[in-house]
Amino acid sequence: MKRSLFCPGGTDAVEMALKLSMGNTNRYKILSFWDAFHGAGFGAISVGGEAIFRGQISLLPGTLHVAPPDCYRCPYGYPDKESCSLECAKMVRYVLDKEKDVAAFIGEAIRSMPYIPPTGFWKEIRSACNDFGVRLIIDAIPQCLGKTGKMFPIDHYDLIPDIMVIGKGLGGGIFPIAGIIAREGMNTLEHRAIGHYTHEKSPVGCAAALATINYIEKYNLVDNAEKQGAYALKLLNELKEKHSMIGNIRGIGLLLGIELVKDRKTKKRATEEAEKVLYRCINKGLSFKLTMGNIISLYPPLIITREQMDWAIKIIDESLSEVEKAC
Ligand SMILES: Cc1ncc(COP(=O)(O)O)c(C=O)c1O
Repeated sequence: MKRSLFCPGGTDAVEMALKLSMGNTNRYKILSFWDAFHGAGFGAISVGGEAIFRGQISLLPGTLHVAPPDCYRCPYGYPDKESCSLECAKMVRYVLDKEKDVAAFIGEAIRSMPYIPPTGFWKEIRSACNDFGVRLIIDAIPQCLGKTGKMFPIDHYDLIPDIMVIGKGLGGGIFPIAGIIAREGMNTLEHRAIGHYTHEKSPVGCAAALATINYIEKYNLVDNAEKQGAYALKLLNELKEKHSMIGNIRGIGLLLGIELVKDRKTKKRATEEAEKVLYRCINKGLSFKLTMGNIISLYPPLIITREQMDWAIKIIDESLSEVEKAC
């Protein structure tokens, strides 16, 4: 993948990837996952699958969705990864076959709650895209760079998309710069503008990205993400033994999720409890995001140390105990 084009933000980069795929295939339909987030522009919310962004707004025509690879709450009813037969990946093939004229499939290789698809998942989707002439776009914005313990999330699946979208951490997490990287054969729209933003090739953004890449390489931060992530996952699995409110722990590198439930059998989301845990943690100095209302989502920086990880997980442990006691 040798062709790149930069722009100020992730949403713009996603929309450049959509435009490039449409122009490249002369088709307009896009397939993506329900519950996905790909940015806040009209194109991005149309391929996104979160209701909060989609209500009472005219969306792009031809945007189709399939269920995501949520292995804890499998949309096809499989109880665990062991019994999984990749129905969610096969549904992509099914829809592409029925529709025939889809331009692209867009998804995150590893969704940042995280959803970590089983082995074989992306191989099946890549092969379906190849069979139906569909471009595969991997949105790697939140996992870029190095967050999963590998430089890019596709490296976990030996996956080569047609276009990869990067952003967020590319500018060190603080300077706006995003972009697309495409394979050579995608370079068919030289006569058209798919970007053309004022700050498209921001020199300061590029300097920030170069400095970030140099720093990551110099201090082996991808290795650190893998090492600290594995350590955190071990501690979080120990917490699961202690707190019945924890229904599921999942993680890869520094993308970590603690799913809180009212009951491990029914898996009913413990949203009020999760909010209480969040505010207790904030009062103790630890901030994070709740996904879907009940998933404590931890995305610590690549430079995190073992001591900082211990400190953070201790706060979560204490806060869970306090909320459990109060319930
Ligand atoms: C998967 C994904 N795609 C796209 C975006 C949009 O990026 P930006 O906020 O830079 O427009 C985000 C932002 O959270 C994201 O998580």
